[in-house]
Amino acid sequence: MKTNRLQNAALTGFCLLVWMGMGLATANFLTSCAKDGEGAKSDAPKEAVKQKPEYYKVKEVKLGATIDPALSKQGGKVFDVTCTGCHKYDERYVGPALGEVLKRRTPEYVMNMILDTETMIDKDDTVRCMLQTYLMKMPNMQVDEKDARAVVEHLREVADKKK
Ligand code: HEC
Repeated sequence: MKTNRLQNAALTGFCLLVWMGMGLATANFLTSCAKDGEGAKSDAPKEAVKQKPEYYKVKEVKLGATIDPALSKQGGKVFDVTCTGCHKYDERYVGPALGEVLKRRTPEYVMNMILDTETMIDKDDTVRCMLQTYLMKMPNMQVDEKDARAVVEHLREVADKKK
């Protein structure tokens, strides 16, 4: 009886600690991620991103009617040096697979993810929820705007080849 009570007390204490820890880590995410989960099925996040949230540093990315091969090549080089440590095209790695990222996200989203990573992690519900899956924050890789635009062109070409 006595040991039982002790065990119970220890167990309750332990659970409380775990619960508090988890609460701290996840409290910020709960509501927004539930929304994102529903939205993912109906493609709503993409729609939401299309409305260009006020926190987007890059408001508009103009894509040409066709892919610019030189720009894409330049972007491929930047991608190899700066992104492949964490991203593959076809499978999850440290971060999500990016081969088809432009099929699920807007070019503006991708540009801001590269150029203003901190703000996106802070403000964008889609990114904030990804943190739960990838358990680390993507660092700002200090890519300049031209190179970021080139990476978008490159990812466009990669997505295009996957059709
Ligand atoms: C040190 C690891 C790391 C590097 C380097 C990195 N990323 Fe990421 N990236 C992540 C993680 C992790 C996520 C998931 C979001 C999070 O947890 O911050 C992510 C998310 C993304 C997303 C959002 C994907 C989606 O499905 O919405 C894009 C776009 C992206 N990264 C592009 C890039 C590009 C382009 C580069 C190179 C310039 C790059 N990343 C370099 C770790 C990295």
